[in-house]
Amino acid sequence: MKKSLLIVAFLLVAVTPFCQNAERFVNDLLSNMTLDEKIGQLNQYNGDWGATGKITPEGDKEQQIKQGKVGSMLNVTGVETVRKLQALALQSRLKIPLIFGQDVIHGFRTTFPIPLGEAASWDLSLMEKSARIAATEAAAYGINWTFAPMVDIARDPRWGRVMEGAGEDTYFGSQVAQARVKGFQGQGLGAVDAVMACAKHFAAYGAAVGGRDYNSVDMSLRQLNETYLPPFQAAVNAGVATLMSSFNDINGIPATANSYILREKLKKEWHFNGFVVSDWGSIGEMIRHGYAKDGYEAALKAITAGTDMDMESRCYRDHLKQLVADGKVPVSLINEAVKRILLKKYELGLFSDPYRFCNDERQARQVNNQENRRFAREDGEKSIVLLKNDPVNGRPLLPLFPNNQTIAFIGPFVKATVANHGFWAISFPDDSTRIVSQFEGLRNQLDASSTLLYAEGCHVNDNDESGFAEAVRVASQADIVILSLGEAPDMSGEAKSRSNLRLPGVQEALLETVSAVGKPVVLLLNAGRPLIFNWASEHVPSILYTWWLGTEAGNSIADVLVGTCNPSGKLPMSFPRTEGQIPLYYNHYSTGRPAKDDDDKFYVSAYIDLPNSPEYPFGYGLSYTTFDVAKLQLSSDRMPIQGGRLNVSVEVKNTGNYDGEEVVQLYIRDLVGCVVRPVRELKGFKKIFLRKGEVQTVSFALTPNDLKFFNNDLQYINEPGTYEVFVGHSSLASLKGTFELIK
Ligand code: NOJ
Repeated sequence: MKKSLLIVAFLLVAVTPFCQNAERFVNDLLSNMTLDEKIGQLNQYNGDWGATGKITPEGDKEQQIKQGKVGSMLNVTGVETVRKLQALALQSRLKIPLIFGQDVIHGFRTTFPIPLGEAASWDLSLMEKSARIAATEAAAYGINWTFAPMVDIARDPRWGRVMEGAGEDTYFGSQVAQARVKGFQGQGLGAVDAVMACAKHFAAYGAAVGGRDYNSVDMSLRQLNETYLPPFQAAVNAGVATLMSSFNDINGIPATANSYILREKLKKEWHFNGFVVSDWGSIGEMIRHGYAKDGYEAALKAITAGTDMDMESRCYRDHLKQLVADGKVPVSLINEAVKRILLKKYELGLFSDPYRFCNDERQARQVNNQENRRFAREDGEKSIVLLKNDPVNGRPLLPLFPNNQTIAFIGPFVKATVANHGFWAISFPDDSTRIVSQFEGLRNQLDASSTLLYAEGCHVNDNDESGFAEAVRVASQADIVILSLGEAPDMSGEAKSRSNLRLPGVQEALLETVSAVGKPVVLLLNAGRPLIFNWASEHVPSILYTWWLGTEAGNSIADVLVGTCNPSGKLPMSFPRTEGQIPLYYNHYSTGRPAKDDDDKFYVSAYIDLPNSPEYPFGYGLSYTTFDVAKLQLSSDRMPIQGGRLNVSVEVKNTGNYDGEEVVQLYIRDLVGCVVRPVRELKGFKKIFLRKGEVQTVSFALTPNDLKFFNNDLQYINEPGTYEVFVGHSSLASLKGTFELIK
């Protein structure tokens, strides 16, 4: 208590003068700025590569930087280039430095698992650390701002961008958002290894109708507040410096001009003190949305609603001055946006040293950094999810026998290198030779007594079956077959929605053909989203979901195959049986006619041709060992709304033959509410390590805050009543307790 008071006192003493100085500095600067210079700060240009949309012609970019007409650049990296552009900015009248932004999504020089894959680790400190390393590497390249983390809740795997986030759950997504923001921002802006984080895409971008990227979103404000906004609020609470508005409209109002989310929620209610950047061209896109008749109106609507910086649409640059002259936009509105941006530049330390992120020696240290690679390997191992490991001849196939084995490694990903990065990895062509292929990874783990055979079998996405015969030949010689299949890295990510989530091309046919040889098969699935692979689930004894794991993919996968690492990942999204079940998420509302089980079809909410349950549920994942969760205890059967606190504990035992990690998950259900409540909601999780035979008590603290929800008047309330609590291995947890929330 005393210690925390001391820390608060210290922060007040230390931070207050910093804030006062920043305010004073920025106010002074602002008072010296012309309107043109102010508008310049709101304008962000792309560099010369990495475009994710149409580039609007900008004339002589360098000249404009010198004139103070540009506040920030994106897609410019490397000390030399950054230094060159910064030097131009310093030739402007007021010498206001540029901020350099970049999509540093899952690593920079060292690539980590795609964010959805890493989320499967359920290991917050791991996620914080990978963001920390990514920030350190990127900052050394002159970058001061990453457009990450993506904190969009995603319940539709057709949407290609599910790969960038933490999946379908709001509570989990909020925790991950905080970990990643902390990781990117490190000790705080101003440290040379920190970059500003950007929570995106504000808001509800993941709820695009039909899972089609950029599509509209139509949902109740209650749903928006309850499910989609909390990860953004969590990011704000963690001190995120910026947010990015999304492309979609929400109930008819494009997010980029949506004053409900930008002004009312973000800036007023959540007291966000950073700035909002539009998504690429999203201000100008309001014209094609049919929400603005031209760039003039688009700029008016966006600035009025609270979008501070214009990424690549040029509407602010071209129209704000006239809007002020016409009396449509008060200068105070522009001042507010400029001030938010300048304050961040100040916090980054750019005014005291505009080149502080430009250091050749620091930059050189990031290339092939062995410590970072070691971490990437661990990160990859922990992201892998073991979906199946059935016994064959009385013993699960995995982990593999380490010696005297002939292993056939088959599939289009076995020798791939760059593909292991997945989408949204920054490409440094000279790094590709340093990416560990799955073949190389496994080869390194096997001793001389084992033989590793290889056949490509087929390509990722065409109809060519000419490699099948070789695959069959190789499989016939082996004791065990490992097939590595999946989707191509550019089949998930931005603008990569898919309506068919099966293995592309002839991969499924390859799997069936090779399985028919009769050798035991292990399947590795490389993907950026939940795929549909029912045949494999039914017929293949062992399946590992390996996502896209980055630089060290091959080593991470091999570590899990041979058992030097026991897999511990759990799915952050429900895996559907067919596309017809989508959207599919565990925390749906109860209907008035819920099905008792998958066989119940009698006038209940069900499909006549399909079970309701997913192929693999949220929170699911196996281990080489087994865990027993028992003895659920509640510290009381009542919790007062005022100051209440309930302790929920279980005993977890490692009942198998390996040491391992388990993610113990706690879910609640509010039985009766003034609005219908979800059938389950995750409210806590703990990842623990247990040696074989070891028992540990795991405790969770629940408070009334965990039970709050939005009523129909959008008030965030606690409601007295009966709650059920479930603890276990996944969202199917069956150990149950009950308590009352009382006045
Ligand atoms: C568009 C994407 O939606 C966004 O996530 C990204 O940060 C920007 N392009 C910049 O590349």
